[in-house]
Amino acid sequence: MLFTKLTSCLVSLFALTACTVAVVLPSRSELESRVYPRATEPIQSGLVFTIHNVKADTVVDLSAGDNKTITGWSLNGGKNQQWTTIWTGESWNFQSVETGLYLGFTGTAGNGTNLTVASTPTAWDIWHDTVNETNYRIFAPNTTVNWDLWGYGDAISGDPITLWGAWSGIHQTWRFVQGMHSIYLLML
Ligand SMILES: *[C@@H]1O[C@H](CO)[C@@H](O)[C@H](O)[C@H]1NC(C)=O
Ligand SMILES: *[C@@H]1O[C@H](CO)[C@@H](O)[C@H](O)[C@H]1NC(C)=O
Ligand SMILES: *[C@@H]1O[C@H](CO)[C@@H](O)[C@H](O)[C@H]1NC(C)=O
Ligand SMILES: *[C@@H]1O[C@H](CO)[C@@H](O)[C@H](O)[C@H]1NC(C)=O
Ligand SMILES: *[C@@H]1O[C@H](CO)[C@@H](O)[C@H](O)[C@H]1NC(C)=O
Repeated sequence: MLFTKLTSCLVSLFALTACTVAVVLPSRSELESRVYPRATEPIQSGLVFTIHNVKADTVVDLSAGDNKTITGWSLNGGKNQQWTTIWTGESWNFQSVETGLYLGFTGTAGNGTNLTVASTPTAWDIWHDTVNETNYRIFAPNTTVNWDLWGYGDAISGDPITLWGAWSGIHQTWRFVQGMHSIYLLML
């Protein structure tokens, strides 16, 4: 009797776990282009990257002036342009090497919402661009808005990075270049 109860409890526990996992896991087609840590992906948890806009070649920059504003800026090797990618088991966080703050946004994820940083992590989904698989798009989870360098990818330093509905513009796509940090470690 006890054994039966235990077994049915275990079975329901197992079923619950299996059910939860099934809900969280992306579908098969998503697995083919959505980025999560796996051997074939350059993006892994705990690595440091500069993130280059494909159109402008400026990088995601945390303002040294206020430690808050996120814009595209020409590459200068500063830690305020370096981001650690952290996998949470479901999505990604981007943590500033300079301040430890996380890339996020204020308010609702819509067209023109500026990126900013906060002390609490924001979840992001990284996807391969479907046109050029070596480039990436970063989406607010469960939305159609992704990172967009303002003004169709204006290359001027200080150009805001916002969320915008995904369309084919390459100023919405990004290149991840692994940072000095790991090169330095290799040299040790
Ligand atoms: C996105 O949707 C999935 C599936 O409904 C859910 O598990 C996940 O928590 C959602 N993510 C966010 C950040 O809301
Ligand atoms: C930004 O953060 C860095 C690192 O925490 C700190 O050294 C610097 O003084 C801060 N700058 C401003 C303007 O708050
Ligand atoms: C894909 O984008 C990269 C830049 O990230 C570029 O070097 C490469 O030429 C592009 N490939 C094609 C087929 O356009
Ligand atoms: C986004 O940032 C730019 C400047 O960086 C500013 O002009 C604009 O008003 C901001 N947009 C919102 C909705 O706050
Ligand atoms: C946001 O931008 C996308 C792409 O330009 C557009 O299709 C969509 O209608 C816009 N959404 C709103 C609410 O303006």
